[in-house]
Amino acid sequence: MYSIIPLSGDPGIGERIAWLMGGNIVGVFTKDHPDGELYLRLEGNMSGKKALIVQSMYPMQDRRFVELLLAIDAAIRGGASEIDLLISYLAYARQDKVFIEGEPVSVNAILRSIKDLGVNKVFVVEPHSSIPRKIYGEGFFEIDGVTPLASRFQDEGELVIISPDLGGIERAWRLASKLPSIYGVYYIEKQRDRYTGEVRSSISKEIDLRDKNALIVDDIISTGGTIANAARLVIERGASKVYVACVHPIFVKGSVERLKESGIDRIVCGKTVKHQVEGVEYIDLDMHIYTKISEILSIGKS
Ligand code: R5P
Repeated sequence: MYSIIPLSGDPGIGERIAWLMGGNIVGVFTKDHPDGELYLRLEGNMSGKKALIVQSMYPMQDRRFVELLLAIDAAIRGGASEIDLLISYLAYARQDKVFIEGEPVSVNAILRSIKDLGVNKVFVVEPHSSIPRKIYGEGFFEIDGVTPLASRFQDEGELVIISPDLGGIERAWRLASKLPSIYGVYYIEKQRDRYTGEVRSSISKEIDLRDKNALIVDDIISTGGTIANAARLVIERGASKVYVACVHPIFVKGSVERLKESGIDRIVCGKTVKHQVEGVEYIDLDMHIYTKISEILSIGKS
């Protein structure tokens, strides 16, 4: 039997998984110290049991990360026989290399701290790239978060699948594999100015989207700049309708307006963070995540 420990960023996945697994929920008491430090206490007996800590690291990424570290330490001290983590949104994963001299590999710092504390397995829903897995090594499991989004596009007829950058092309193919009728899978050339953050996108001259419906897929929408640029390009190429599928709906202030102005017809996102905005369709990923992790944890087999 697992002890499930849902932390403050968890959008409800922990409770649902506890129910599906038949695990017991461990309460988490937190408060702010007068100087702003976080205090945490786990309320429940986890001695001798495996623990699954569930967290999502947006909003307040830094706070959620510290809470995660404190919870791991508390669970170890509480006698948990093994600590596993389910992170539905892993923050800092986009800084997965040194782009400008002097920068850290942020995701390396995050994952090494987790691993060093004594975590066994880490499940991450749709990490930005495969670099986190390479950094963490054995015990890191990527949980696909894209294919469940396909359920909302089954009746949209033939679709052209577009990745807004080359790095996302495998994700685009993964989504395409779950759709009934695909015209093609393409990517947009994207360049981000590493100093200003400004995004420039262009599309190959050979891509003709006249009278086609396009589905743009990405892992994260933050400012909406990447998707808005991609949407404008596919509309310029003649696309009739533009849909968007995204796993992690960060949506910083002003992003939804930016996306609407770019001519997008529908936005479908996974529910991997608590924060929700109007005008977006959200999909629960709980059952999908449970199925994936229970296979790896061999739940019900021991
Ligand atoms: C970057 O490569 C990611 O896959 C997303 O495209 C990016 O994080 C989206 O950010 P924004 O919405 O701010 O353009």
